[in-house]
Amino acid sequence: MTTTTGSAAGTDWRAWQESWDRQQEWYMPDREDRFRVMLDMVEALVGPAPRVLDLACGTGTITARLLARFPEATSTGVDLDPALLTIARGTFRSDERVSFVTADLKDPDWVTRLPYESYDAVLTATALHWLHSEPLAALYGQIAELLRDGGVFMNADHMIDETTPRINAAERARRHAHMDEAKANGAVDWGEWWQLAAQDPVLAEPTARRFEIYGEHADGDMPSVQWHARVLREKGFAEARPVWCSPSDTLLLALK
Ligand SMILES: C[S@@+](CC[C@H](N)C(=O)[O-])C[C@H]1O[C@@H](n2cnc3c(N)ncnc32)[C@H](O)[C@@H]1O
Repeated sequence: MTTTTGSAAGTDWRAWQESWDRQQEWYMPDREDRFRVMLDMVEALVGPAPRVLDLACGTGTITARLLARFPEATSTGVDLDPALLTIARGTFRSDERVSFVTADLKDPDWVTRLPYESYDAVLTATALHWLHSEPLAALYGQIAELLRDGGVFMNADHMIDETTPRINAAERARRHAHMDEAKANGAVDWGEWWQLAAQDPVLAEPTARRFEIYGEHADGDMPSVQWHARVLREKGFAEARPVWCSPSDTLLLALK
């Protein structure tokens, strides 16, 4: 998705965004539903011109949908992946409403890199299961401090209820059957997408660096909805509950 010059200026960032979206949708066909509800709740709780932190932003998926719906919003994207951040920075290169920060969310000082001390909303999707429960609980405390009073945090992610093993197994089998079907029809999975990035003249170097940082994928936990809601309250949120769920995923909202 880069012209023969191999320069960032010749890269089709929109094409990379779209191929990232298709790859993520292979795992989550209802991915856009969670973003729609997330932005509905942003509007309901902090209005149509929020200052947002797009946490573990990847290519800036949430930021793109936020600005398309709320042109007066501003966004800070934070992530550690140099390749996904290259795509994010390329996509929003001339947009003054957006800035990106490279940081490891497990670093206790990551918040000091942010351009603002306070946000109206912290939004994240399909990312915090890359962290183990202990660093995630610490991160929840930092997010509570970053939000203004009345500010909102939303996390859309895989949240597993270990007390329902037969339901979980049936849901997983159904989901994987659909994925196999989509794969037979040409869907690109995580590994194949990264192979494409590694072959791109602009993304090859940051892709090599991201594999040094993470390997194929970081190792984390997928605690239950109840765990997330309880820990968020313990860390300073006044209210916390799901506002959307699918058979495998939940969008959890916490209000400060
Ligand atoms: C599957 S991607 C999701 C990206 C984006 N939120 C989306 O929905 O498309 C997971 C993201 O979490 C980021 N991430 C995981 N662990 C991180 C950490 N410790 N610090 C910063 N970012 C992290 C990864 O780099 C990656 O961009």
